[in-house]
Amino acid sequence: MTQAHTDSTASNSLAMPMLGTGTYRLKDQAAFDAVLMALEEGSRHIDTAQIYANEVAVGEAIKASAIPRNELFITTKVWTENLDSSRFEASVIDSLTALQTDYVDLLLIHWPLKDGKVPMADYLMSLKTMLDKGFTRHIGVSNFTNAQLSQAIAILGEGVIFTNQVEVHPYLVNAKVTEFCKLHNILVTGYMPFAYGAILQDELISKIAKKHDATTAQTILAWLRQQGFATIPSSTKRENVRSNLAAVNLVLSAAEIEAINGLDRNHRVANPDFAPQWD
Ligand SMILES: NC(=O)c1ccc[n+]([C@@H]2O[C@H](COP(=O)([O-])OP(=O)(O)OC[C@H]3O[C@@H](n4cnc5c(N)ncnc54)[C@H](OP(=O)(O)O)[C@@H]3O)[C@@H](O)[C@H]2O)c1
Repeated sequence: MTQAHTDSTASNSLAMPMLGTGTYRLKDQAAFDAVLMALEEGSRHIDTAQIYANEVAVGEAIKASAIPRNELFITTKVWTENLDSSRFEASVIDSLTALQTDYVDLLLIHWPLKDGKVPMADYLMSLKTMLDKGFTRHIGVSNFTNAQLSQAIAILGEGVIFTNQVEVHPYLVNAKVTEFCKLHNILVTGYMPFAYGAILQDELISKIAKKHDATTAQTILAWLRQQGFATIPSSTKRENVRSNLAAVNLVLSAAEIEAINGLDRNHRVANPDFAPQWD
């Protein structure tokens, strides 16, 4: 299985496979089964988070796979309640313990704080400390707007933020944020690539998929990859995991990518009440 990879900025660490495996909503046995299956099928990039309450199951699945740690790229995210400097490091150590590892490859701030209870400079410096202590190979953010990214770059400096993980799919192209990220050399990781299934029946994408003898899911994954975005679909079914991973071989034409971009309708799935004022 060949996978596209980004350049890695940290020496002796694995470059991030551009197609990873999401674990949101999956708990206990379901999380264990999905992660082990993804690893068996060739995925080497697992995305979890403290709030998913599945880091223990993810850690068990990784252990059961017997894949050497240095062949895996593991991401976790610090939850909003742990951003205070009194809890930040302890929460990361808890995550590492649950995942049965000494480090993650990528540690993200899951959501920016809307109420400013903890100043951004404080939690980003805590995040940077995790990098300096070797608890993570890379640091990044999630659900940050352009204004928040500008602020984060001012705090951490250019070139430190590895990724901004944001919702991106054909019904939410999120162009303002992705263009800003490109400008600042921040990798976009598009989450919920299928809008949790909402897109998989789309007529235009199905038509394009048929032309390539591919599935709609594969077509969406190719659309993301060809724009330089990483992505992390989740699946509990082996045939879906397998076909998603095989999407690395699908190449769409520029016209097809443009046509899919035309489906944008600002359909945002992840929009909790603590979300920022989106771009
Ligand atoms: N940073 C954040 O705030 C944030 C927010 C949301 C999500 N995320 C991350 O992004 C990941 C992906 O998002 P998501 O899991 O919410 O949604 P998603 O990946 O857009 O959709 C998952 C759904 O698609 C189905 N699916 C997967 N592959 C398929 C295929 N080839 N054919 C047909 N159906 C397929 C799955 O069903 P089956 O199980 O039946 O295959 C599942 O119901 C999450 O797991 C999480 O890691 C991050």
